Amino acid sequence: MDQNELKAQVSKEAVKYIQDGMIVGLGTGSTVRYMVDALGERVKNEGLKIIGVTTSNRTTKQAESLGITIKDIDDVDHIDLCIDGADEVDDDFNGIKGGGGALLWEKIVNNASTKKIWIVDQSKLVPRIGDFGVPVEVIPFGSQHVFNTFEKKGYKPVWRMDGDHKYRTDENNFIIDIHLGQIDDPHALAEDLIHTVGVVEHGLFLNRVDDVIVGRDNGPEVLHA
Ligand code: A5P
Repeated sequence: MDQNELKAQVSKEAVKYIQDGMIVGLGTGSTVRYMVDALGERVKNEGLKIIGVTTSNRTTKQAESLGITIKDIDDVDHIDLCIDGADEVDDDFNGIKGGGGALLWEKIVNNASTKKIWIVDQSKLVPRIGDFGVPVEVIPFGSQHVFNTFEKKGYKPVWRMDGDHKYRTDENNFIIDIHLGQIDDPHALAEDLIHTVGVVEHGLFLNRVDDVIVGRDNGPEVLHA
């Protein structure tokens, strides 16, 4: 199976967890795109009634075009289930997210959700996270100083670009991707990043998932954290 078939496979599996009446967090990324399509099918064919809370303007646009009702996160008091993708997941269920630039809203929606599921194809499973790089969202004001600090610490920072310009998140912030290779102590790195003035959030998602649905050639596999 190619990667897109695996993404479609895990997406079909994941939407089975969605029940009538649920408030569902909808992630962002190329895998989630398939999942939102599959959810749209259920809404259309079964008359499933759910409310979606999205993690990016991209996902909002797609979901609304499929007839899925979307509410702002601050207009709901809880989220039953969040389904999102990931860039890397390790043996301890630590994850890296933000390859698609939506890590801030993704972490906020993840935080507000009772159950959290990630959908990944088999290529995303790694023994230790880090090789992908860690996306760090920074406010534009003073961000060159944050970049320089990362450089001095040996974090090998790279500005996320969008053509000739620095990439802008849905909150109008910048992203600096840092490259440390496999990370020995992700919790220590997370602490360091979040205490750097100017950093809004980072893409280390530690202790933030219940089930990971992995797309494999012989069918989806569910890993419980
Ligand atoms: C979006 O910012 C990300 O966190 C995505 O969830 C993650 O990058 C996975 O994306 P793909 O499904 O496109 O690989």
